[in-house]
Amino acid sequence: MKTIVFIETNFSGLDTFKYCSERGYKSVLITDSFDRFKHWFPESCLYKLEHADQVIEVKNSDDIDELTKAIETEVGQVDAVLTFAEIRTKVTATLAQRLGLAGSNIEAINIAQDKFRFRKVIEEKGVEKVSCIKVSAITELVDIKDTLSYPCFLKPVQGHSSLGATVCNSQDDVNDIVAKFSQIDEEWISSAFVVEDFLQGDLVSVEILTTSEGHHQVVGVSDRDVIKDSVETGASFPLDNDIREIVEKKACDALDAIGYDFGPSHVELILTQQGPRLVEVNSRVGGSGHSVMMDLATSRSIVGDCVELCLGNIKEEGRLYPHVKGAAWKCFVSDSAGTIDKMPSVDEIKALEGVEEVWLHHGVGEKIESIDSNFSWILQVMCTGKNQFDAKNNAASAVNFVADNTVIQ
Ligand SMILES: Nc1ncnc2c1ncn2[C@@H]1O[C@H](COP(=O)(O)OP(=O)(O)OP(=O)(O)O)[C@@H](O)[C@H]1O
Ligand SMILES: [Mg+2]
Repeated sequence: MKTIVFIETNFSGLDTFKYCSERGYKSVLITDSFDRFKHWFPESCLYKLEHADQVIEVKNSDDIDELTKAIETEVGQVDAVLTFAEIRTKVTATLAQRLGLAGSNIEAINIAQDKFRFRKVIEEKGVEKVSCIKVSAITELVDIKDTLSYPCFLKPVQGHSSLGATVCNSQDDVNDIVAKFSQIDEEWISSAFVVEDFLQGDLVSVEILTTSEGHHQVVGVSDRDVIKDSVETGASFPLDNDIREIVEKKACDALDAIGYDFGPSHVELILTQQGPRLVEVNSRVGGSGHSVMMDLATSRSIVGDCVELCLGNIKEEGRLYPHVKGAAWKCFVSDSAGTIDKMPSVDEIKALEGVEEVWLHHGVGEKIESIDSNFSWILQVMCTGKNQFDAKNNAASAVNFVADNTVIQ
């Protein structure tokens, strides 16, 4: 029996435990915090963790020595180690190397997770130039605000979930932004920030499975709904317009430039008037329901493919990912802060056209703050349709239904 070890997981990775049990693989989840899962995932999905055959609790799942010891003493023979959690991609690649197993290039992950270094490497390798400076703390902006060109975009050098990501329109905004973001109370967000060109246009992402150096299986491109300049509230798939190929090529060029030669990635770009510009490379499967959207549209399991890739079972024979229908997710968010008094039931929403899944991020009785990150989602629907447009429309209708039948005061 093959034994697959997962170091933490994101929302997408929750489905791999079931995938492993269906394939007869033993799955082992190593975690240092169940509270993090409760913070990250809708409560109704936590049961998926129970599909893991073994759970090992450690003090710090980012500590390579502790992970190695836990595997030695509590697992024994391992056939693959992988993660779906951005915050553990580097330690997982390091662990794979230490155990002599297939894994991603550690230096590529280092570059991808440093948004300043990423810009520099991409520029040096001739992929594109987006002007960018780094400040060691956001408070430094106050001293240099008259040297910046506006609008500019600010985000932590290392970050996730759009926390601390914001546009800065003029010098007058600097003090408010500094006050708001000088203490982000969230794990794994650096105090250093990048200040870069504001890229105006639609956000898209390319989902890719890299099987070896320079060999990229493109799963497809998805669009993204963004509000307040950085909070992602929806996506639809597969996007197929006249610049799809250019976008796919740029995403693959970015992977080659940073040396990412093995594993899944979720590459974000903004379609500016000057052409697509890279936002970031995530060296993992897209989170927040993205994998479910891809699975529905391609009839494959992207998280399962990650397992098979590590086991050496993905053979390169033409395009892996067909597009059999459209899929889309969308979140209900509320502009007004307050307590949720009333919401439609999951069953009512599931009865709407094309709705496949409903995920409650917050429920009746819970308090809602104003929208400031991807943690502001209240409810998420996953829909299918004949094609991308159809799926997107179904998701929009379902969210409108939720908005019309929800009371927050
Ligand atoms: N230079 C830019 N110009 C305009 N918008 C940007 C820029 N960089 C990032 N954004 C917006 O901010 C969002 C968050 O930025 P980024 O993806 O780099 O950070 P993150 O917190 O790692 O993201 P995620 O939410 O994907 O985890 C992007 O999805 C995009 O909408
Ligand atoms: Mg991002």
